[in-house]
Amino acid sequence: MSAFKGMIKRIDDKTAKIVIVGIGYVGLPLAMSFSEDDFQVYGLDVRDETVENLKKGISHINDIPNERLKKSVDLGLFVPTTDKSIIADADAIFICVPTPFTKNKTPDVSYIEDASINIAKYLKKGHIVILESTTYPGTTVELVKPILEKSGLKAGTDFTLVFSPERVDPGNDEYSIENTPKVVGGITPEGTDIARRLYGAVVGKDNVVTVSSPTIAEMVKLLENTFRSVNIALIFELATLCHRMNINIWEVIDAAATKPFGFMPFYPGPGVGGHCIPVDPFYLAWKAREFDFSTKFIELAAETNIRMPDWIMGRIFDLLNRESKVVKNSKILVLGVTFKKNINDSRNSPSFRIMELLLHHGADISYSDPYVPEIIVGEWHDDYNPLLANPVGLKSCELTAEFLGKQDMVILIVDHDVFDYKLIVDQSQLIFDTKNATKRLGAKPGNVYLL
Ligand SMILES: NC(=O)c1ccc[n+]([C@@H]2O[C@H](COP(=O)([O-])OP(=O)(O)OC[C@H]3O[C@@H](n4cnc5c(N)ncnc54)[C@H](O)[C@@H]3O)[C@@H](O)[C@H]2O)c1
Repeated sequence: MSAFKGMIKRIDDKTAKIVIVGIGYVGLPLAMSFSEDDFQVYGLDVRDETVENLKKGISHINDIPNERLKKSVDLGLFVPTTDKSIIADADAIFICVPTPFTKNKTPDVSYIEDASINIAKYLKKGHIVILESTTYPGTTVELVKPILEKSGLKAGTDFTLVFSPERVDPGNDEYSIENTPKVVGGITPEGTDIARRLYGAVVGKDNVVTVSSPTIAEMVKLLENTFRSVNIALIFELATLCHRMNINIWEVIDAAATKPFGFMPFYPGPGVGGHCIPVDPFYLAWKAREFDFSTKFIELAAETNIRMPDWIMGRIFDLLNRESKVVKNSKILVLGVTFKKNINDSRNSPSFRIMELLLHHGADISYSDPYVPEIIVGEWHDDYNPLLANPVGLKSCELTAEFLGKQDMVILIVDHDVFDYKLIVDQSQLIFDTKNATKRLGAKPGNVYLL
């Protein structure tokens, strides 16, 4: 008799219990979707502070407002916890833990390993384990499966295992979990089918795309992100060429984007950030080497993207030079420190590298970001060697006419909608707009220089 007998019924009547391991940018929205669909959801995290705040209805993810979180917590449908034994009570266990890289740009899958070791301790017959963290093709079968099988249970017969790539796009008001198709690939057709039904409950059954294995599903995610990385690098290269040729890249892209087929616009900027585009190509490149394969094209794109802040720095030297100024001791204000607009996530944001370079060259820097009240520039991370001998702590500044007027240069890195662009343009002496954000004011003002 199948170990999964009764699972379909429990999914259909919503009595299946769900544990989500890792309650961050990916895990929390997933927890909300299932709990709002009347499933009992447990949010398991290793960070006490995160769990305590979640229990009080305080969200750390700005796509999930406190009111929305509180509703599920108050109804008892979302229970944040640090108690790993909750896994034993579950039917479905989702892994949504981080997958960063090391300083040498090799995959750091230690969070997946830790989560899998904890799950193995409480694994039972009939469990379905779904990995959502972005990772190299083969992780589910080669890394997670053997760890879970140390429990003595056999994958495919006693428990089942699936990979389903996360497609969360923070700050995107149009697409959320509920209306974004979900790709699922299990180690057996039965596992894929259970996952299809589970996700179908929140995204709709016609919105689940099944593939033949977890490895295919893992590669799907890397194709999506590598596609972005390569196109971003291409537009970076064209932007730097256009600058040399005195051609407005923004006008070029806008005109090209009128082609209704065969073209998709990508826009330049100060570099890539977040935990997908700067990281994922290196996961793929690392795995490819196992097959004596060098992903030159993909790695060239990743390197091009990493170098962008250095090119921005060159432009800053050049623009100040025009005013007979140098970077050293110049007052430079950075607008925006998140990795994209209208969100509060600043991980891997190119702003930090640019601020580090500015500090390294002796600039007197400040920053303003309504989503990030304070930051530390030049901090040591597991995956980052900073340029500065000592980290520098900064607090977000209020944008007033007087403050803007005192700056030698304002660099717009993130085009948050909440910035008062008229105030910025009217009161600043010199603006380097890396996102063409001032376009919204109409004709380009004389004190604005575009990337
Ligand atoms: N944030 C995004 O926009 C996004 C989009 C697509 C894919 N992803 C991928 O999803 C995964 C998760 O990313 P995220 O942004 O949600 O990360 P996050 O850092 O926001 O959240 C991860 C959470 O996991 C917790 N955690 C770590 N180890 C744990 C363990 N052993 N047991 C329980 N909890 C543990 C952390 O405390 C943290 O709260 C990554 O692989 C990432 O690349 C993220």
